[in-house]
Amino acid sequence: MINPKYARLRITEPEHAYIDNMVIGVIDSGIGGLTTLKEIIRVRGGGDYIYYLDNARHPYGIRSEKEIYSYMRKACDTLALLGAEAIAIACNTATAVCIDDLRREYPDTPFIGIEPSIKPAVRHGENICVLATPLTLKQERFSKLLTGATFHMPDCTGLADAIEEEYPCLARAQKTLTKALYRFSDIRFDSAVLGCTHYSYLGDWISKILGCPCFDGNGGVARQTRRICGDEQSPARVALIVTGKGSAPRYLDLSNLYLGSPVYLIEP
Ligand code: DGL
Repeated sequence: MINPKYARLRITEPEHAYIDNMVIGVIDSGIGGLTTLKEIIRVRGGGDYIYYLDNARHPYGIRSEKEIYSYMRKACDTLALLGAEAIAIACNTATAVCIDDLRREYPDTPFIGIEPSIKPAVRHGENICVLATPLTLKQERFSKLLTGATFHMPDCTGLADAIEEEYPCLARAQKTLTKALYRFSDIRFDSAVLGCTHYSYLGDWISKILGCPCFDGNGGVARQTRRICGDEQSPARVALIVTGKGSAPRYLDLSNLYLGSPVYLIEP
C-alpha cells in the first residue's frame, strides 16, 4: 500500500489519501506507458497503480545509457518510498538499456519490462517494419530479438516527441513517420512492430497505411504483471506523479480521459 504518511501529505485528493491494495508502479517518459497501464488494468480487472510520468526528462530515446539508468533509479526510489511493491517499466528504451541493472539494484522488487513484440510479427511473413527510438535500436538486448525475418528500421527521431507534445492530435506524428517511411516505399511489409509505447497511439493508422497488422508489447506486460501480482477485483485507481514544472494539469486530464479510471495527482 502507498506509504500513508507520505501520501497524506502530498496527495491532492485527501479522501483518497492512501490505498489498501498491492500497489504497482508504472514508469515512462510520458504518455506512452498509459497504453501499457490501460492493458494491465484490463487484464488484471482493476487494482491500484502509481504512474510515474517523467516529463522533465522526455524524450528518453535520444539520451545516453548512463542518463537513462539514473532516471530509472530516481523513479524507482520515488516509487519505493510511496510503497510500490512491483514496477512495470512501460518504456521499451529503458527496458532495453537497464532492466537487468535495476533487477540487481532492487532485488526485492519484481520488475516487468516491455520489449518489441517481434515473435508474433515474424509469424506474418518475411518483411517486418520495426519502429523504435534511436537509443533502443542501439541496444544489444534489442538486436538479439531480431531473428527469423528481414527487419527494416525507419529513423523515428522526433516521433515520440510529436505524440507527447500534441496528443490527442496526431497530425505532426503522422507527418514525421510518413517522412521516415519514404525510403522504404518499395517494400511491402508483412507486419509492423511498435517498439516504443508512444507509438501505440498510432497503431491503427500505421496498420492502415502499411496495409499490415501491428504488434506492441502491452499484452505481454499485462499478462506478466497478472502472473506476478495476481488479478484484482477492486476498480482501478491511479496516482499520477509528473516530473517537470507546469505540465501536471494537462497530464491529469489526458490520463483521466484515456484510462477511464479515476486518476489523482501526487506531487513529486
Ligand atoms: N515510450 C518510451 C519507449 O517505449 C520512450 C519514448 C521517449 O521518451 O523517447 O521507448
